[in-house]
Amino acid sequence: MIEENLPLERINFEAYKSKIITAEQAAQLIPNGAVVGASGFTKAGDSKSVLPAFAKRAATEDVAITLITGASLGHTTDADLAANHALIRRMPFQADATLRKSINNYELKYVDQHLSETIEQLQCGHIPAVDIAIIEASFINDQGFIIPTTSIGNSAYFAAAAPKIIIEINTLVPTSFRGIHDNCVPQSYPNREIIPIQTVSDRIGEAFIRLNPEHVIGIVFTDILDTPAELTHPDEKTTAISQHLLRFFEGEIKKGTLTPSLLPLQAGIGKVANAVLTGLIDGPFENLTMYSEVLQDSTFDLIDSGKMNFASGSSITVTENCYQRILKNFDNYQDKLVLRPQNISNSPEVIRRLGIIAINTAIEFDIYGNVNSTHIGGNRMMNGIGGSGDFARNAYLSIFVTQAASKDHNSISHVLPMVSHVDHTEHDVDILVTDQGLADLRGLSPRERAEVIIENCVHPDYRPSIRDYFERAKAVGGHTPHLLNEAFNFHIKFKETGSMK
Ligand code: COA
Repeated sequence: MIEENLPLERINFEAYKSKIITAEQAAQLIPNGAVVGASGFTKAGDSKSVLPAFAKRAATEDVAITLITGASLGHTTDADLAANHALIRRMPFQADATLRKSINNYELKYVDQHLSETIEQLQCGHIPAVDIAIIEASFINDQGFIIPTTSIGNSAYFAAAAPKIIIEINTLVPTSFRGIHDNCVPQSYPNREIIPIQTVSDRIGEAFIRLNPEHVIGIVFTDILDTPAELTHPDEKTTAISQHLLRFFEGEIKKGTLTPSLLPLQAGIGKVANAVLTGLIDGPFENLTMYSEVLQDSTFDLIDSGKMNFASGSSITVTENCYQRILKNFDNYQDKLVLRPQNISNSPEVIRRLGIIAINTAIEFDIYGNVNSTHIGGNRMMNGIGGSGDFARNAYLSIFVTQAASKDHNSISHVLPMVSHVDHTEHDVDILVTDQGLADLRGLSPRERAEVIIENCVHPDYRPSIRDYFERAKAVGGHTPHLLNEAFNFHIKFKETGSMK
C-alpha cells in the first residue's frame, strides 16, 4: 500500500516500499501475548505511533503484551497501555504516574532491572525471547538497515534477534542527524569478547542498526517529536547540594586524587544532576568528559562553554529549546557525541575501566550508607533502579544525592536509621550529599560512617532523634548497631500521621 506524498526518500531499500502500512495495521500485527521489544530510552527515540495504536486496540479488544524497552517512554504511551490493561509484564524501567499506579495495584508484573542487564538475560535465554521489535528510525539505508534517532537503548539487540520487525520512520528527525550512533551486539557466552573502549570517545560498532530485511513486516511513518524534558531551574536545595559536591571535587584536585578534568562523569536525570553539572561551568574544571546514559541540557551547556570535550550516552533527552539548538548546530556537536546501546553505555566492564564519577539521586539513605532509589514507604514502586546500580557498583566514585528533608514542615527526612528498601548497599556507596552537607564514607567503618552522615547530612529538625537512635543502638552493641524494634519508626510514623517528626 503506497500512498502519494509519503516521504519515500527516507527508504533507500526498494523491498521495504511495499511494506508501508498504517500504525493501526501495524498494531494488528502484534499477537496477543507477544513479547515486544521497543525502542525508547528516557522518553527519547520511542515508538510514537505503533505502541499507542496497540493501546487503542486494547481498549476494545482483550489483548496484552510483555513490553521490554530501553527505559521509560514518552508522551502517554505507558499510561495508555496501563489504563487499557494492555501490559502483562513490563521491563526494565518506567517513570509514568498511571503505569506506576497499575504496578502498585499489581495489575501487571513489573520487572525492575539494571539497565545493562536486559540484553544479558535475553541473550542467555533467562527470559522469554522477543517476538516483535518496534524501532524508531530517521531513515533506512541501502542495505535495509536502520539509522536510529535520539536513543539506542536496547534496539540493536531487538533488531538483531526479533523474527519480526516493525520500523517507525520519524519524518520530523532530520536525515542529517547521523554519525553519532555506535551500534553493536556482543557475542553470547562463552564467546564474549572484551569491550574495547579505552576512552569515552572510542567507537566500536556501526552507525546503523543491522537486521535481516526479511524480518521486516511493516514500515510506518510518524511525525511526532520526542516528549521534551522539563526545564528545571536550580533552587536553594539543589544549589546547596551542587556546591557541596563541587567543593569536594576541588578538594580532591588539591589532594591530587583528581585532576581538573576529573574523570568521566555519569549523572542521573533530574534537577539535582542538572544543577551539579551546570555548576561545573563556573568551577576550575577543564576538558571534562561524560560516560553516562542520558545526555541532558547541562551536557550541551558544558560543551558550549568549552568545558566539556566529549559525551557518550544512550539517549539525548533535552528540553525543546535545547533540541532545536542541537539540530541547528549539529555540525558543532557531531564529533563530540556518541550514542551507544545501553549494555555498552552501562557496561560494568567499561565503567570500571574508565573510572567513572557516578552521581545518582536517592529516595532515602540510612546512617550506614545503604541507599533506596526505588521504593516509597518500603512497598510502593516509584520508577525503578535504572542505571544507578550499573554505575554505583563499578564507579571510581559512587555518589548519591538527595534533599535532607522535604514536604511541608520538613515532614519527610530522607536520612533514616534504616532504609525501607535497599537498592545500593553500603559497600557500593562512597559519598553522600544533601543540602546540609557531604559525608565522605571512604575507608570508614559502619559506626564512623554513621557519625559523619548524622553530623553532615541529616536535617537539623531530625538530627537529635536520629542521634538518639544511634546512641541507644550503640549501647546495645554490634558492628552495625541497630534497634530492630525501632528501625522503621520514622516510616511508620509518617504513614500514621503524615510526618516523620
Ligand atoms: N516518603 C514518601 N514520599 C517520598 C519519599 C519518602 N521517603 N521520598 C520521596 N518521596 C516522594 C517525593 O515527595 C515526590 O513526590 P511528589 O512527586 O508527590 O512531590 C516523589 O517521591 C519523588 O521525589 P523527588 O524528590 O521529587 O524525586 P526526583 O524527581 O528527584 O527523583 C528518584 C528521585 C530517586 C525517584 C529518581 O532519581 C529515580 O527514579 N532514581 C532511580 C533511577 C536512577 O537513579 N537512574 C539513574 C540513571 S538515569
